[in-house]
Amino acid sequence: MENKILIALLSILIFACATPNKFEKNYPTYRENRNTLEQLEHVNDSTLHVTSTSTDPKYGYTELKPIMLGVYDCDDGADNRMKFFNALLGPNGEKVTAKRIKTCCPFHTLNSQTVGRDQKFGLLDVWELSYEGIETPLTIYINLYDQGEFLAPMGFTLKHPLNSN
Ligand SMILES: *[C@@H]1O[C@H](CO)[C@@H](O)[C@H](O)[C@H]1NC(C)=O
Repeated sequence: MENKILIALLSILIFACATPNKFEKNYPTYRENRNTLEQLEHVNDSTLHVTSTSTDPKYGYTELKPIMLGVYDCDDGADNRMKFFNALLGPNGEKVTAKRIKTCCPFHTLNSQTVGRDQKFGLLDVWELSYEGIETPLTIYINLYDQGEFLAPMGFTLKHPLNSN
């Protein structure tokens, strides 16, 4: 009887090891460490202080170079998204509107809200930004989990750039 239980347990273990886990796939990692920043710099309660526009034409426009809005508390990361959009203007100071498209592109992160050995992963947020006069909205990728660089993607200007008073 004991043997049977042992065999059953063993086969569960073997089965568990042999089954490829969807969280073990070769997903990218944008940041190796846990976030330490309590909050990103704000202009006021509804606006992040985004200080400059990226000079990299790919920044923000591909899943490989997402805008990093994560902070220590995951919920604050999600709040930062709208505050980030609020900091942006079009190339000639136009008001920017943002439309949520989807989430995509799983990645490994230690900063996921989900606790659990197999669940340290996140999804990127995909949004379309537009402003008056633009022909095709611009698709941008945001990482709400990990902290890092948060600049305006190329083609946008800022309400409060670094050098303005
Ligand atoms: C916060 O700052 C933004 C950008 O300057 C401005 O548009 C908005 O009106 C401000 N909000 C408040 C509540 O002061």
